[in-house]
Amino acid sequence: MFPGLPRRTSVLVAALSLVVTRLSCSSLSAPDIPHIAAFFGTKTRYEEVNPQLLRDVFSVNRSVLRPPASERCTPVHLTAVIRHGSRYPTVKNIQRIQRLSELVRREAAGGSGGAAQWLQDIQSHWEMWYTEDMDGQLVMKGRDDLRWLARRLALLFPSLLSEENVARVSLRSSSKHRCVSSVEAFQDGLQEHWRQPVHDGQYSHQVDDQLMRFFERCRGYVEGVEKNRTALLEVEKFKHGKEMEAVRRRALNEDCPCVRPVDLVEAAFFLCSYELSIKSLHSPWCFLFDEDDAKVLEYKSDLKQYWKRSHGHVISGLSSCPLFHHVFRTLDKAGRPRRSVTSHPASILVGHAETLLPLLSLLGLYKDQTPPTADNYRTQHGRSFRSGLIVPYAANLLFVLYDCQRGPRLQLLINESPVRFPGLETEDAPLYRDVRATYRHLLDGCDFERECEGRPVGRGPNTEL
Ligand SMILES: *[C@@H]1O[C@H](CO)[C@@H](O)[C@H](O)[C@H]1NC(C)=O
Ligand SMILES: *[C@@H]1O[C@H](CO)[C@@H](O)[C@H](O)[C@H]1NC(C)=O
Repeated sequence: MFPGLPRRTSVLVAALSLVVTRLSCSSLSAPDIPHIAAFFGTKTRYEEVNPQLLRDVFSVNRSVLRPPASERCTPVHLTAVIRHGSRYPTVKNIQRIQRLSELVRREAAGGSGGAAQWLQDIQSHWEMWYTEDMDGQLVMKGRDDLRWLARRLALLFPSLLSEENVARVSLRSSSKHRCVSSVEAFQDGLQEHWRQPVHDGQYSHQVDDQLMRFFERCRGYVEGVEKNRTALLEVEKFKHGKEMEAVRRRALNEDCPCVRPVDLVEAAFFLCSYELSIKSLHSPWCFLFDEDDAKVLEYKSDLKQYWKRSHGHVISGLSSCPLFHHVFRTLDKAGRPRRSVTSHPASILVGHAETLLPLLSLLGLYKDQTPPTADNYRTQHGRSFRSGLIVPYAANLLFVLYDCQRGPRLQLLINESPVRFPGLETEDAPLYRDVRATYRHLLDGCDFERECEGRPVGRGPNTEL
Protein backbone atom coordinates (compact mmCIF):
# COMPACT_ATOMS: atom_id res chain seq x y z
CA MET A 1 0.00 0.00 0.00
CA PHE A 2 2.79 2.39 0.95
CA PRO A 3 5.88 0.85 -0.63
CA GLY A 4 9.19 1.49 1.07
CA LEU A 5 7.82 1.74 4.59
CA PRO A 6 8.98 -0.86 7.07
CA ARG A 7 6.35 -3.53 7.66
CA ARG A 8 5.78 -2.57 11.27
CA THR A 9 4.93 1.00 10.51
CA SER A 10 2.91 0.13 7.45
CA VAL A 11 0.36 -1.28 9.85
CA LEU A 12 0.09 2.05 11.50
CA VAL A 13 -0.05 3.81 8.19
CA ALA A 14 -3.04 1.70 7.36
CA ALA A 15 -4.47 2.44 10.78
CA LEU A 16 -4.20 6.15 10.38
CA SER A 17 -5.59 6.19 6.91
CA LEU A 18 -8.56 4.43 8.38
CA VAL A 19 -8.79 7.07 11.10
CA VAL A 20 -8.90 9.78 8.50
CA THR A 21 -11.43 7.91 6.38
CA ARG A 22 -13.72 7.50 9.36
CA LEU A 23 -13.00 11.06 10.41
CA SER A 24 -13.95 12.55 7.12
CA CYS A 25 -17.19 10.59 7.14
CA SER A 26 -18.30 11.40 10.62
CA SER A 27 -16.35 14.04 12.46
CA LEU A 28 -18.38 17.01 11.36
CA SER A 29 -21.63 15.53 12.48
CA ALA A 30 -20.16 13.67 15.43
CA PRO A 31 -21.67 14.42 18.83
CA ASP A 32 -19.29 15.62 21.52
CA ILE A 33 -19.23 12.25 23.20
CA PRO A 34 -17.47 9.36 21.47
CA HIS A 35 -19.80 6.49 20.64
CA ILE A 36 -17.54 4.17 22.65
CA ALA A 37 -17.39 6.29 25.83
CA ALA A 38 -19.23 3.76 28.00
CA PHE A 39 -16.68 1.00 27.35
CA PHE A 40 -13.54 2.43 28.91
CA GLY A 41 -13.61 0.23 32.02
CA THR A 42 -11.89 1.94 34.95
CA LYS A 43 -11.09 4.86 32.64
CA THR A 44 -14.77 5.66 32.20
CA ARG A 45 -16.08 9.09 33.17
CA TYR A 46 -18.61 9.30 35.99
CA GLU A 47 -20.96 11.07 33.58
CA GLU A 48 -21.28 7.92 31.48
CA VAL A 49 -22.87 6.24 34.49
CA ASN A 50 -24.98 9.29 35.37
CA PRO A 51 -25.63 11.17 32.10
CA GLN A 52 -28.07 13.58 33.77
CA LEU A 53 -24.94 15.26 35.18
CA LEU A 54 -23.98 16.41 31.68
CA ARG A 55 -26.94 18.79 31.87
CA ASP A 56 -26.62 19.72 35.53
CA VAL A 57 -23.67 18.76 37.71
CA PHE A 58 -25.76 19.35 40.82
CA SER A 59 -28.72 17.24 39.83
CA VAL A 60 -29.76 14.94 42.67
CA ASN A 61 -32.71 12.62 42.84
CA ARG A 62 -33.95 12.31 46.40
CA SER A 63 -36.13 9.34 45.52
CA VAL A 64 -33.00 7.17 45.60
CA LEU A 65 -33.24 7.30 49.41
CA ARG A 66 -35.69 4.57 50.24
CA PRO A 67 -36.28 3.75 53.85
CA PRO A 68 -39.77 2.25 54.30
CA ALA A 69 -42.44 4.93 53.95
CA SER A 70 -44.43 3.36 56.79
CA GLU A 71 -41.70 4.05 59.35
CA ARG A 72 -40.58 7.53 60.13
CA CYS A 73 -36.88 7.41 59.31
CA THR A 74 -34.13 9.99 59.42
CA PRO A 75 -30.61 9.53 58.13
CA VAL A 76 -28.13 9.56 61.02
CA HIS A 77 -24.85 8.66 59.35
CA LEU A 78 -23.19 8.45 55.95
CA THR A 79 -20.05 6.48 55.19
CA ALA A 80 -18.75 7.06 51.67
CA VAL A 81 -15.92 5.09 50.07
CA ILE A 82 -14.91 7.13 47.06
CA ARG A 83 -12.49 6.63 44.18
CA HIS A 84 -10.30 9.58 43.15
CA GLY A 85 -11.47 11.67 40.18
CA SER A 86 -10.23 11.81 36.59
CA ARG A 87 -6.49 11.65 36.31
CA TYR A 88 -3.60 11.74 33.86
CA PRO A 89 -2.32 8.45 32.47
CA THR A 90 0.36 6.72 34.51
CA VAL A 91 3.94 6.62 33.19
CA LYS A 92 3.49 3.22 31.55
CA ASN A 93 0.61 4.45 29.41
CA ILE A 94 2.27 7.79 28.68
CA GLN A 95 5.21 5.83 27.26
CA ARG A 96 2.91 3.81 25.04
CA ILE A 97 1.25 6.99 23.82
CA GLN A 98 4.71 8.42 23.11
CA ARG A 99 5.57 5.41 20.97
CA LEU A 100 2.35 5.81 19.06
CA SER A 101 2.90 9.51 18.51
CA GLU A 102 6.52 8.99 17.44
CA LEU A 103 5.36 6.58 14.79
CA VAL A 104 2.95 9.20 13.56
CA ARG A 105 5.62 11.88 13.48
CA ARG A 106 8.15 9.69 11.71
CA GLU A 107 5.63 8.75 9.08
CA ALA A 108 4.61 12.35 8.59
CA ALA A 109 8.23 13.36 8.02
CA GLY A 110 9.17 10.46 5.79
CA GLY A 111 5.97 9.64 3.96
CA SER A 112 5.08 10.75 0.49
CA GLY A 113 2.02 11.38 -1.61
CA GLY A 114 -1.27 10.32 -0.07
CA ALA A 115 0.42 9.11 3.06
CA ALA A 116 1.88 12.51 3.81
CA GLN A 117 -1.53 14.08 3.33
CA TRP A 118 -3.42 11.91 5.80
CA LEU A 119 -0.62 12.15 8.31
CA GLN A 120 -0.93 15.89 8.17
CA ASP A 121 -4.64 15.45 8.66
CA ILE A 122 -4.21 13.45 11.83
CA GLN A 123 -1.54 15.82 13.04
CA SER A 124 -3.79 18.78 12.61
CA HIS A 125 -6.46 16.94 14.59
CA TRP A 126 -4.22 15.76 17.38
CA GLU A 127 -1.00 16.73 19.04
CA MET A 128 1.06 14.84 21.58
CA TRP A 129 0.85 16.73 24.85
CA TYR A 130 1.38 14.12 27.58
CA THR A 131 4.62 14.19 29.58
CA GLU A 132 5.91 11.63 32.03
CA ASP A 133 5.75 13.97 35.02
CA MET A 134 1.94 13.90 34.77
CA ASP A 135 2.13 10.34 36.07
CA GLY A 136 -1.34 9.56 37.36
CA GLN A 137 -1.97 12.96 38.97
CA LEU A 138 -5.46 14.31 39.40
CA VAL A 139 -6.52 16.65 36.57
CA MET A 140 -8.69 19.76 36.91
CA LYS A 141 -11.75 17.77 35.85
CA GLY A 142 -10.87 15.27 38.57
CA ARG A 143 -11.02 18.03 41.19
CA ASP A 144 -14.40 19.02 39.78
CA ASP A 145 -15.56 15.39 39.99
CA LEU A 146 -15.01 15.42 43.76
CA ARG A 147 -16.17 18.98 44.41
CA TRP A 148 -19.40 18.33 42.57
CA LEU A 149 -19.90 14.97 44.27
CA ALA A 150 -19.46 16.65 47.68
CA ARG A 151 -22.07 19.25 46.80
CA ARG A 152 -24.54 16.65 45.55
CA LEU A 153 -24.08 14.65 48.75
CA ALA A 154 -24.71 17.82 50.76
CA LEU A 155 -27.96 18.27 48.79
CA LEU A 156 -28.92 14.64 49.27
CA PHE A 157 -28.08 14.59 53.00
CA PRO A 158 -28.69 18.14 54.19
CA SER A 159 -28.97 17.11 57.85
CA LEU A 160 -25.74 15.08 57.85
CA LEU A 161 -23.53 17.38 55.80
CA SER A 162 -25.10 20.45 57.34
CA GLU A 163 -23.26 23.70 57.77
CA GLU A 164 -22.50 23.07 61.44
CA ASN A 165 -21.52 19.46 60.77
CA VAL A 166 -18.88 20.19 58.13
CA ALA A 167 -16.14 20.41 60.75
CA ARG A 168 -17.24 17.07 62.26
CA VAL A 169 -16.92 15.04 59.08
CA SER A 170 -14.21 12.41 59.31
CA LEU A 171 -11.97 12.33 56.22
CA ARG A 172 -9.34 9.76 55.30
CA SER A 173 -7.36 9.25 52.14
CA SER A 174 -4.80 7.04 50.50
CA SER A 175 -1.39 8.70 50.41
CA LYS A 176 -1.30 8.82 46.60
CA HIS A 177 -1.24 12.32 45.24
CA ARG A 178 -4.43 11.89 43.19
CA CYS A 179 -6.34 10.75 46.30
CA VAL A 180 -5.04 13.53 48.53
CA SER A 181 -5.98 16.07 45.85
CA SER A 182 -9.39 14.40 45.65
CA VAL A 183 -10.10 14.56 49.38
CA GLU A 184 -9.05 18.21 49.35
CA ALA A 185 -11.39 18.91 46.46
CA PHE A 186 -14.19 17.18 48.38
CA GLN A 187 -13.61 19.55 51.30
CA ASP A 188 -13.56 22.50 48.90
CA GLY A 189 -16.95 21.34 47.60
CA LEU A 190 -18.47 21.24 51.10
CA GLN A 191 -17.11 24.69 51.92
CA GLU A 192 -18.43 26.10 48.68
CA HIS A 193 -21.80 24.54 49.31
CA TRP A 194 -22.09 26.28 52.65
CA ARG A 195 -20.31 29.40 51.44
CA GLN A 196 -17.85 29.12 54.26
CA PRO A 197 -14.68 31.16 54.12
CA VAL A 198 -12.08 29.44 52.01
CA HIS A 199 -9.79 27.69 54.42
CA ASP A 200 -6.60 28.55 52.65
CA GLY A 201 -5.03 25.12 52.50
CA GLN A 202 -6.38 24.18 55.93
CA TYR A 203 -7.62 20.70 55.17
CA SER A 204 -8.48 18.26 57.90
CA HIS A 205 -8.08 14.79 56.40
CA GLN A 206 -5.87 11.98 57.63
CA VAL A 207 -3.71 9.87 55.33
CA ASP A 208 -4.34 6.19 56.04
CA ASP A 209 -2.83 3.60 53.72
CA GLN A 210 -3.53 0.76 56.11
CA LEU A 211 -7.19 1.39 55.42
CA MET A 212 -7.17 2.64 51.83
CA ARG A 213 -4.26 0.67 50.34
CA PHE A 214 -4.73 -2.60 52.23
CA PHE A 215 -4.06 -4.54 49.02
CA GLU A 216 -0.33 -3.81 48.96
CA ARG A 217 0.04 -4.85 52.62
CA CYS A 218 -1.67 -8.22 52.27
CA ARG A 219 1.08 -10.77 51.67
CA GLY A 220 -1.35 -13.52 50.65
CA TYR A 221 -2.72 -11.21 47.98
CA VAL A 222 0.60 -9.83 46.75
CA GLU A 223 2.16 -13.28 46.42
CA GLY A 224 -0.95 -15.24 45.46
CA VAL A 225 -2.29 -12.82 42.86
CA GLU A 226 -0.22 -9.77 42.08
CA LYS A 227 3.12 -11.52 41.65
CA ASN A 228 1.60 -14.79 40.51
CA ARG A 229 1.95 -15.20 36.78
CA THR A 230 -0.79 -17.79 36.50
CA ALA A 231 -3.36 -15.75 38.46
CA LEU A 232 -4.21 -13.68 35.37
CA LEU A 233 -4.11 -16.54 32.90
CA GLU A 234 -7.59 -15.74 31.57
CA VAL A 235 -6.51 -12.22 30.72
CA GLU A 236 -3.40 -13.43 28.89
CA LYS A 237 -5.41 -16.00 26.97
CA PHE A 238 -8.01 -13.45 25.95
CA LYS A 239 -5.31 -10.98 24.89
CA HIS A 240 -4.10 -13.50 22.34
CA GLY A 241 -7.50 -14.97 21.56
CA LYS A 242 -9.66 -14.64 18.48
CA GLU A 243 -11.77 -11.66 19.62
CA MET A 244 -8.75 -9.46 20.33
CA GLU A 245 -7.10 -10.68 17.16
CA ALA A 246 -10.14 -9.53 15.20
CA VAL A 247 -10.04 -6.08 16.82
CA ARG A 248 -6.38 -5.71 15.94
CA ARG A 249 -7.12 -6.72 12.40
CA ARG A 250 -10.09 -4.40 12.05
CA ALA A 251 -8.66 -1.45 13.88
CA LEU A 252 -5.14 -1.56 12.55
CA ASN A 253 -5.35 -3.21 9.20
CA GLU A 254 -8.09 -5.02 7.38
CA ASP A 255 -5.87 -7.57 5.67
CA CYS A 256 -2.29 -7.25 6.76
CA PRO A 257 -1.18 -10.48 8.41
CA CYS A 258 2.01 -8.84 9.70
CA VAL A 259 2.70 -7.05 12.95
CA ARG A 260 -0.24 -5.87 14.97
CA PRO A 261 1.09 -4.42 18.19
CA VAL A 262 -1.41 -5.12 20.96
CA ASP A 263 -0.31 -2.38 23.26
CA LEU A 264 -0.52 0.27 20.56
CA VAL A 265 -4.11 -0.67 19.77
CA GLU A 266 -4.82 -0.26 23.45
CA ALA A 267 -2.85 2.98 23.58
CA ALA A 268 -5.08 4.41 20.86
CA PHE A 269 -8.18 3.25 22.76
CA PHE A 270 -6.90 4.79 26.01
CA LEU A 271 -6.03 8.00 24.16
CA CYS A 272 -9.66 8.31 23.19
CA SER A 273 -10.65 7.82 26.84
CA TYR A 274 -8.08 10.25 28.25
CA GLU A 275 -8.89 13.06 25.86
CA LEU A 276 -12.53 12.71 26.88
CA SER A 277 -12.03 12.43 30.64
CA ILE A 278 -9.34 15.10 30.86
CA LYS A 279 -10.36 17.62 28.22
CA SER A 280 -13.94 16.63 27.34
CA LEU A 281 -12.68 16.19 23.78
CA HIS A 282 -13.85 13.81 21.12
CA SER A 283 -10.45 12.65 19.92
CA PRO A 284 -9.83 11.52 16.32
CA TRP A 285 -8.36 8.34 17.78
CA CYS A 286 -11.85 7.25 18.77
CA PHE A 287 -12.75 6.64 15.15
CA LEU A 288 -10.38 3.69 15.01
CA PHE A 289 -12.91 1.64 16.93
CA ASP A 290 -16.48 0.68 16.40
CA GLU A 291 -18.76 -0.37 19.23
CA ASP A 292 -17.99 -4.07 18.83
CA ASP A 293 -14.25 -3.39 19.03
CA ALA A 294 -14.80 -1.29 22.14
CA LYS A 295 -16.82 -4.04 23.81
CA VAL A 296 -14.00 -6.52 23.27
CA LEU A 297 -11.43 -4.10 24.71
CA GLU A 298 -13.78 -3.40 27.61
CA TYR A 299 -14.08 -7.13 28.26
CA LYS A 300 -10.33 -7.44 28.33
CA SER A 301 -10.06 -4.84 31.07
CA ASP A 302 -13.04 -6.30 32.96
CA LEU A 303 -11.32 -9.69 32.89
CA LYS A 304 -8.27 -8.09 34.43
CA GLN A 305 -10.24 -6.38 37.18
CA TYR A 306 -12.22 -9.54 37.88
CA TRP A 307 -9.19 -11.80 38.20
CA LYS A 308 -6.88 -9.26 39.79
CA ARG A 309 -9.16 -7.30 42.14
CA SER A 310 -12.44 -9.09 42.53
CA HIS A 311 -14.19 -12.48 42.70
CA GLY A 312 -11.52 -14.24 40.63
CA HIS A 313 -9.52 -14.82 43.83
CA VAL A 314 -11.12 -14.90 47.27
CA ILE A 315 -8.05 -13.32 48.84
CA SER A 316 -8.68 -10.08 46.90
CA GLY A 317 -11.92 -9.52 48.78
CA LEU A 318 -10.45 -10.70 52.08
CA SER A 319 -7.58 -8.25 51.79
CA SER A 320 -10.17 -5.51 52.37
CA CYS A 321 -11.10 -6.87 55.83
CA PRO A 322 -9.56 -3.85 57.63
CA LEU A 323 -11.75 -1.50 55.61
CA PHE A 324 -14.80 -3.74 56.05
CA HIS A 325 -14.37 -3.73 59.83
CA HIS A 326 -13.70 -0.01 59.90
CA VAL A 327 -16.96 0.70 58.06
CA PHE A 328 -19.03 -1.54 60.33
CA ARG A 329 -17.40 -0.22 63.51
CA THR A 330 -18.29 3.28 62.37
CA LEU A 331 -21.88 2.22 61.63
CA ASP A 332 -22.15 0.40 64.98
CA LYS A 333 -21.16 3.56 66.81
CA ALA A 334 -23.43 5.80 64.77
CA GLY A 335 -26.41 3.46 65.29
CA ARG A 336 -26.27 3.39 69.08
CA PRO A 337 -29.38 4.84 70.70
CA ARG A 338 -27.35 7.38 72.61
CA ARG A 339 -24.79 8.54 70.15
CA SER A 340 -21.73 10.04 71.67
CA VAL A 341 -21.19 13.68 70.84
CA THR A 342 -17.86 12.74 69.31
CA SER A 343 -19.36 10.43 66.69
CA HIS A 344 -19.16 11.57 63.10
CA PRO A 345 -22.22 12.46 61.01
CA ALA A 346 -20.25 11.36 57.96
CA SER A 347 -17.10 9.42 57.21
CA ILE A 348 -15.42 10.06 53.85
CA LEU A 349 -12.83 7.53 52.68
CA VAL A 350 -10.96 8.30 49.47
CA GLY A 351 -9.00 5.61 47.64
CA HIS A 352 -8.68 3.74 44.39
CA ALA A 353 -10.60 1.38 42.12
CA GLU A 354 -8.33 -1.20 43.79
CA THR A 355 -9.82 -0.15 47.13
CA LEU A 356 -13.47 -0.34 46.07
CA LEU A 357 -13.49 -3.53 44.00
CA PRO A 358 -12.25 -5.86 46.76
CA LEU A 359 -14.69 -4.38 49.28
CA LEU A 360 -17.62 -4.74 46.86
CA SER A 361 -16.54 -8.32 46.22
CA LEU A 362 -16.32 -9.06 49.93
CA LEU A 363 -19.88 -7.77 50.28
CA GLY A 364 -20.89 -10.26 47.57
CA LEU A 365 -21.86 -7.68 44.94
CA TYR A 366 -21.56 -8.02 41.15
CA LYS A 367 -20.99 -11.74 41.39
CA ASP A 368 -22.40 -13.32 38.25
CA GLN A 369 -23.24 -17.01 38.14
CA THR A 370 -20.65 -17.72 35.48
CA PRO A 371 -17.23 -16.13 35.91
CA PRO A 372 -15.92 -14.26 32.88
CA THR A 373 -13.15 -16.21 31.16
CA ALA A 374 -11.10 -16.03 27.99
CA ASP A 375 -13.46 -18.46 26.29
CA ASN A 376 -16.93 -17.21 27.16
CA TYR A 377 -16.96 -13.64 25.84
CA ARG A 378 -20.02 -14.37 23.70
CA THR A 379 -22.16 -15.39 26.68
CA GLN A 380 -21.05 -12.50 28.92
CA HIS A 381 -22.92 -9.61 27.33
CA GLY A 382 -25.44 -9.46 30.16
CA ARG A 383 -22.86 -9.69 32.95
CA SER A 384 -23.23 -7.41 35.96
CA PHE A 385 -19.46 -7.14 36.38
CA ARG A 386 -18.71 -4.14 34.16
CA SER A 387 -15.93 -2.10 35.70
CA GLY A 388 -16.99 1.06 33.84
CA LEU A 389 -20.34 1.01 35.63
CA ILE A 390 -18.92 -0.01 38.99
CA VAL A 391 -15.67 1.95 39.33
CA PRO A 392 -15.57 4.89 36.92
CA TYR A 393 -13.60 7.94 38.09
CA ALA A 394 -15.13 9.33 41.32
CA ALA A 395 -17.03 6.06 41.87
CA ASN A 396 -18.65 5.92 45.27
CA LEU A 397 -20.07 3.36 47.63
CA LEU A 398 -22.43 4.96 50.13
CA PHE A 399 -23.63 3.36 53.37
CA VAL A 400 -26.63 5.31 54.63
CA LEU A 401 -27.72 4.59 58.18
CA TYR A 402 -31.24 5.65 59.20
CA ASP A 403 -32.94 5.85 62.55
CA CYS A 404 -36.35 4.25 62.11
CA GLN A 405 -39.20 3.20 64.34
CA ARG A 406 -38.19 -0.46 64.30
CA GLY A 407 -34.53 0.33 64.80
CA PRO A 408 -31.61 1.40 62.62
CA ARG A 409 -31.72 0.57 58.90
CA LEU A 410 -28.96 0.55 56.34
CA GLN A 411 -29.12 1.37 52.64
CA LEU A 412 -26.42 0.95 50.03
CA LEU A 413 -25.96 3.27 47.07
CA ILE A 414 -23.39 2.74 44.35
CA ASN A 415 -22.64 5.76 42.23
CA GLU A 416 -25.72 7.39 43.70
CA SER A 417 -28.10 4.57 42.73
CA PRO A 418 -29.71 2.14 45.18
CA VAL A 419 -28.24 -1.36 45.30
CA ARG A 420 -29.58 -4.14 47.48
CA PHE A 421 -27.53 -6.30 49.81
CA PRO A 422 -27.05 -9.85 48.49
CA GLY A 423 -29.32 -12.09 50.53
CA LEU A 424 -31.57 -9.20 51.58
CA GLU A 425 -33.04 -8.41 48.19
CA THR A 426 -36.58 -7.73 49.34
CA GLU A 427 -35.78 -4.31 50.80
CA ASP A 428 -33.79 -1.25 49.80
CA ALA A 429 -33.03 -0.41 53.41
CA PRO A 430 -33.18 -3.53 55.59
CA LEU A 431 -32.85 -3.40 59.35
CA TYR A 432 -29.22 -2.92 60.31
CA ARG A 433 -29.36 -5.98 62.55
CA ASP A 434 -30.38 -8.08 59.52
CA VAL A 435 -27.43 -6.73 57.56
CA ARG A 436 -25.15 -7.63 60.44
CA ALA A 437 -26.65 -11.11 60.57
CA THR A 438 -26.00 -11.54 56.84
CA TYR A 439 -22.35 -10.63 57.27
CA ARG A 440 -21.97 -12.35 60.65
CA HIS A 441 -19.24 -14.68 59.34
CA LEU A 442 -17.20 -11.67 58.25
CA LEU A 443 -17.94 -9.56 61.31
CA ASP A 444 -16.76 -12.41 63.52
CA GLY A 445 -13.83 -13.29 61.31
CA CYS A 446 -12.30 -11.68 58.24
CA ASP A 447 -9.09 -11.21 60.12
CA PHE A 448 -6.33 -9.50 58.19
CA GLU A 449 -3.50 -11.30 60.01
CA ARG A 450 -5.01 -14.69 59.47
CA GLU A 451 -6.18 -14.20 55.88
CA CYS A 452 -3.19 -12.25 54.62
CA GLU A 453 -0.32 -13.55 56.73
CA GLY A 454 -1.64 -17.00 57.48
CA ARG A 455 -1.25 -16.41 61.20
CA PRO A 456 -3.79 -17.87 63.59
CA VAL A 457 -5.29 -15.28 65.92
CA GLY A 458 -7.68 -14.98 68.85
CA ARG A 459 -11.40 -14.62 68.21
CA GLY A 460 -13.72 -11.70 68.38
CA PRO A 461 -12.10 -8.67 66.79
CA ASN A 462 -15.45 -6.99 66.31
CA THR A 463 -18.34 -8.00 68.51
CA GLU A 464 -19.61 -4.62 69.62
CA LEU A 465 -23.02 -3.41 68.69
C1 LIG B 1 -35.61 9.81 40.17
O1 LIG B 1 -35.41 8.42 40.31
C2 LIG B 1 -36.58 7.66 40.15
C3 LIG B 1 -36.21 6.22 40.43
O2 LIG B 1 -35.43 6.15 41.55
C4 LIG B 1 -37.10 7.83 38.76
O3 LIG B 1 -38.30 7.10 38.59
C5 LIG B 1 -37.36 9.30 38.50
O4 LIG B 1 -37.73 9.48 37.16
C6 LIG B 1 -36.13 10.11 38.79
N1 LIG B 1 -36.45 11.52 38.67
C7 LIG B 1 -35.69 12.36 37.97
C8 LIG B 1 -36.14 13.79 37.96
O5 LIG B 1 -34.70 12.00 37.37
C1 LIG C 1 -1.26 -18.68 41.53
O1 LIG C 1 -2.53 -18.63 40.93
C2 LIG C 1 -3.05 -19.90 40.61
C3 LIG C 1 -4.32 -19.71 39.81
O2 LIG C 1 -5.22 -18.90 40.48
C4 LIG C 1 -3.25 -20.71 41.88
O3 LIG C 1 -3.78 -21.97 41.59
C5 LIG C 1 -1.92 -20.83 42.61
O4 LIG C 1 -2.12 -21.46 43.85
C6 LIG C 1 -1.30 -19.46 42.84
N1 LIG C 1 0.06 -19.58 43.34
C7 LIG C 1 0.43 -19.07 44.52
C8 LIG C 1 1.88 -19.18 44.87
O5 LIG C 1 -0.35 -18.54 45.29
